[in-house]
Amino acid sequence: MAFNIEKIRRDFPNLMARARDEKPLVYLDNAATTFKPCQVISCTHAHYCHKTANIHRGVHYLSEEATAEYESTREKVRRFLNASSLCEIVFTKGATESINLVAASYGRSALKSGDEVLISQMEHHSNIVPWQLLREATGCVIKVAPINDRGELLLDEYRKLLSPRTKIVSIVHVSNSLGTVNPVKELARLAHEAGAVFLLDAAQGVSHEPIDVQDWDVDFLAFSGHKLFGPTGVGVLYGKERILETMPPYQGGGDMILSVTFDRTVFNRLPLKFEAGTPNVAGVIGLGSAIDYIRAVGWEDMITHKKDLVDHGHKVLNAVPGLRMIGTARNKAPIFSFVLEGVHAHDIGTLIDREGIAIRTGHHCTQPVMERFGVPATARASLAFYNTKEEIDLLVKALLKVREVF
Ligand code: ALA
Repeated sequence: MAFNIEKIRRDFPNLMARARDEKPLVYLDNAATTFKPCQVISCTHAHYCHKTANIHRGVHYLSEEATAEYESTREKVRRFLNASSLCEIVFTKGATESINLVAASYGRSALKSGDEVLISQMEHHSNIVPWQLLREATGCVIKVAPINDRGELLLDEYRKLLSPRTKIVSIVHVSNSLGTVNPVKELARLAHEAGAVFLLDAAQGVSHEPIDVQDWDVDFLAFSGHKLFGPTGVGVLYGKERILETMPPYQGGGDMILSVTFDRTVFNRLPLKFEAGTPNVAGVIGLGSAIDYIRAVGWEDMITHKKDLVDHGHKVLNAVPGLRMIGTARNKAPIFSFVLEGVHAHDIGTLIDREGIAIRTGHHCTQPVMERFGVPATARASLAFYNTKEEIDLLVKALLKVREVF
């Protein structure tokens, strides 16, 4: 598929939706969730219309078909991440659950009091709170690698915080509130030198650039389907087979067992050991379709287009009087967090919503980032590959109007 933005936009019916007062919608809230192409919608729809069945449990035709589609998505995800084995791909309900799974299962079995977990100052709450729960359970210590004024991780500080006590390093790939793209390969290498396992929170990063878990040498990786143009309620945990093998189940229930008596349960093989209960079958199948879609569009064109959006966005937004950009990393995704002098972020969001422009305002589940930059909240425009420079210009026009009102 050649990168034809008009054609691509037609694949996303939600882009044609009307916003408040029947205004044409300008959707710039893709870090919160992405729109889904028709291909994903019709594949999910077809599952519910004609193909509904539980998986791994029936000998009837529909169950076998659903199982085959579900498992073929596992293979699509394996290829998408370049994992070496299917048993390394665990379906969860989202990146949050994937991180919680690692904290609860690996963390509780491998860490003891005084062991350290290293995260960064730019983490989403979902990569902070699970480690605090682990701290409650084990007495481990959480260390935080600081960021500079651009919103980039301070590599020297990160290095200094690594020690033989560090057992887990868990870092975000692309910051949802700053747009910073972290040097994953280098961070994982340094974590391994210290003897720690490395978890990558790829919730935002998964739609930013191709991932190669083997080349990057990450031990765990978490992402959500809905930020990859797929359904909500489905996500993935990648884990290296030899590590997943050592981990106890996260939840107990159907499908994660080989046999159960009242005395004893024998757990299923990987990855089913971590997939207790009926999973989000339609969601998983929809995620497979989203991956097909991305492959068809092609990373190269998407990346070039998004780089143009970053450059254009910085140029025109920085020209708005009183606008201060929060997050100016040299390697950045098209996420623009900003404050406007004299105007609360929520007022910006409310006023530009009247122009049909959807952005997110608030702390974006990264309160420590807000604290680092000394702001209570930011307005955040986050773009996907189907957004255009013209939409950024409409945002600028709306912001200039906001300035007039205040
Ligand atoms: N984490 C999502 C966001 O950044 C919901 O908006």
